[in-house]
Amino acid sequence: MAFRIAPSILSADFARLGEEVRAVAAAGADLIHFDVMDNHYVPNLTVGPLVCAALKPHVNLPLDVHLMVKPVDRIIPEFAKAGASIISFHPEASDHVDRTIGLIRESGCKAGLVLNPATPVSWLDHTLDKLDLVLLMSVNPGFGGQQFIPSVLPKIAEVRKRIQACGKPIWLEVDGGVKADNIAEIARAGADTFVAGSAIFGAKDYAAVIRDMRARLAVL
Ligand code: DX5
Ligand code: ZN
Repeated sequence: MAFRIAPSILSADFARLGEEVRAVAAAGADLIHFDVMDNHYVPNLTVGPLVCAALKPHVNLPLDVHLMVKPVDRIIPEFAKAGASIISFHPEASDHVDRTIGLIRESGCKAGLVLNPATPVSWLDHTLDKLDLVLLMSVNPGFGGQQFIPSVLPKIAEVRKRIQACGKPIWLEVDGGVKADNIAEIARAGADTFVAGSAIFGAKDYAAVIRDMRARLAVL
């Protein structure tokens, strides 16, 4: 299985964001995870399409945009224009989930659905075959630096089973509290893509953390 590591800029130094994304790209990241929060769907406020467009020329990696905003549809074409490769959203933030998935795909981006720790997997019943990515939250969205919620592990396994049954190369990404010391357990449950904010940006040597994560995945 191919594993991907996606540093979340939420824990980067926002005053030096261009430099920070270049540094994690040089350190071996596969994607840049871009957390968009609106102080409405989640109790925090971060960055929008302007910052996404500003970062785009600094990095060749795909921009993995995680929308924690409600409503969601209006902002999708703006993120596509700003250079997003993947756009993920929470089903609770959309009145018409199938339409929102369609909007993302029509805008030329890969589409992801994000499930919070208490959001049921049944949201995938009628959506999975249209998705490129399922993003499972292993913390409640809104803040970096929270503890991984272990009850998400069986949920990861369940979603992996559904993806296998579907037969499409859908990515299974996990977001929240991912560190070098739990990444193997999360991968064993079935994840292939790992968001890590504080674990990477909170360290002095980004490359050392990513190397450590890859070493623990390599022995699986
Ligand atoms: C939380 C965000 C995460 C966050 C993860 O709402 O979606 O992407 O940055 O941060 P860590 O890795 O510190 O838990
Ligand atoms: Zn995120």
